[in-house]
Amino acid sequence: MRHFLNLADAGGDAVAAMIADAIDRKAARAGWPKARPDADKPLADHVLAMVFEKNSTRTRASFDIAIRQLGGVPMILDAGTTQLGRGETIADTARVLSRYADAIMIRTDDHAKAEELAEYASVPVINGLTDLSHPCQIVADLLTIVESGKALPGLELAWLGDGNNVLASLIEAAGLFGFHVRAGVPQGYEPDANFVEAARAKGVRIDIMRDAREAVVGADLVVTDTWVSMGQDHAHNKVAAMAPFQVDERLMTGAKGDAIFLHCLPAHRGEEVVDAVIDGGQSRVWDEAENRVHAQKSILLWALGKL
Ligand code: CP
Ligand code: NVA
Repeated sequence: MRHFLNLADAGGDAVAAMIADAIDRKAARAGWPKARPDADKPLADHVLAMVFEKNSTRTRASFDIAIRQLGGVPMILDAGTTQLGRGETIADTARVLSRYADAIMIRTDDHAKAEELAEYASVPVINGLTDLSHPCQIVADLLTIVESGKALPGLELAWLGDGNNVLASLIEAAGLFGFHVRAGVPQGYEPDANFVEAARAKGVRIDIMRDAREAVVGADLVVTDTWVSMGQDHAHNKVAAMAPFQVDERLMTGAKGDAIFLHCLPAHRGEEVVDAVIDGGQSRVWDEAENRVHAQKSILLWALGKL
């Protein structure tokens, strides 16, 4: 069973194959109407169930269009309006959804819930974000980086702000693809230690830095995300600790001249990033958002054994 709870479930070769497939499929349908299925309809007659225990714009919309472009059908379940929201167990939900759908995507808080769903499902389970990690986002990010003309091995990635789920999956990708991470994060907001250790064990540098300007020196890409993730308090002391890590135009001048800026979105303009950067010439955030569709088509194809 090909679950995709973290990038390592697929491994570097399979993620590289996803990126290559996404590039090909994206090119093959350039200029097509968005709802027209790909010519080969590789997931015709397939159903993707999506369970949302947290809000989403991109993950929800991009998986919806992704399964349609593959010839399949989306089924969206907002947990609050399902029996899951009234206490039906994850295990029973997994057993039932496996009878209706060919794959299940879940967005939830505790990563253990996604693992439990995978344990009891008889179809592949895809992590659409947990408090621990966000692997689908990172396949789209890797696609965006490759499209910008940068090779992944040896890349210097600067992260600014909170050591959150998105950074955890970027660090995992660093280990799989041989790039380095300079994480500028305040004390107490470091990324998950297991992801850091696993990446370092593969021989890449994961530097935890306390100075934002130092973190961006020589960076090929600068990445940030919200200072307050879903489910967290908008605590005054956290926001204050993050303030020196805001990505502004001056900070971007410390990176390489051809550095690109990425943000998984939603952005909190004026907090982790200023308008001039997210709307500026180095920003690739709208391509990054579009690439969620292309990347997730390839993730679905891998999970269902078609890649
Ligand atoms: N980047 C991302 O996962 O966005 P959503 O929360 O809108 O799905
Ligand atoms: N770190 C953010 C990502 C949102 C896509 C969160 O978990 O809320």
